[in-house]
Amino acid sequence: MNIIAVKNYEEMSKKAAEFIIDTVKTKPNAVLGMATGGTAVGTYKCLIQDFNQNKTSYKQAYTVNLDEYIGIDPEHEQSYHTYMDNHLFQHIDLPKNHQYIPNGNAKNLEAECKRYEEAIEALGGVDLQILGIGHNGHIGFNEPGTSFDSKTQVVELAESTRKANARFFEDLNEVPTQAITMGIATILKSKKILLLVSGKGKAEILQKLLTCDITESIPATALKKHPNVTIIADKEALSFLADTEMKVRMSV
Ligand code: PGA
Repeated sequence: MNIIAVKNYEEMSKKAAEFIIDTVKTKPNAVLGMATGGTAVGTYKCLIQDFNQNKTSYKQAYTVNLDEYIGIDPEHEQSYHTYMDNHLFQHIDLPKNHQYIPNGNAKNLEAECKRYEEAIEALGGVDLQILGIGHNGHIGFNEPGTSFDSKTQVVELAESTRKANARFFEDLNEVPTQAITMGIATILKSKKILLLVSGKGKAEILQKLLTCDITESIPATALKKHPNVTIIADKEALSFLADTEMKVRMSV
């Protein structure tokens, strides 16, 4: 895994946006794997700014989102459909029928998972997957204990994940208990992966990720099996790393 150390959230967002913009410039019909959550908001802001200033076009590109809650409407203000619309899609020229997000309201959720997995395959796979990381090491909504062989699946959200996401809802009871998420194997099929980590709150899990062996109890360690992962982490997120030499080398 390559690590790019940056000063703060703004720099992380700018760097991440550069990766996405480069991908689309090199391959206009690229398939971009999108993440939601607080971490990715700044990256999408940078993409919108670039779209307005430099006219980078997404007309031929495709996006596939990592996950969606089960049991809330796509129009719900906290659905990931709404998140993507508000934070990115309505501001750029990506065609509506190029935007893939699992349907957490599907009648047959198993069939929806299968359909989603096949849709990603039919697009030729993900060229660049953006990831955040949960405090418990989840990627997508793959919570600790998830098999590394998992494909797109229905999952129960960990209580810690529901609590972390309660900040976006009126109260904890409103946070869904289940989601559809790309599986770990689905994520690992991406050609290139970009993991974004920012803030003190993520320092402990980032330290664990970088120092632990590969284990299903920390889902993000699966990324160590992938040949092309770049972590963009800011100074606060890297602050638990005991290896000062490593920090100097990365000039944090
Ligand atoms: P966050 O979520 O960006 O809101 O911290 C990341 C995640 O849970 O994967």
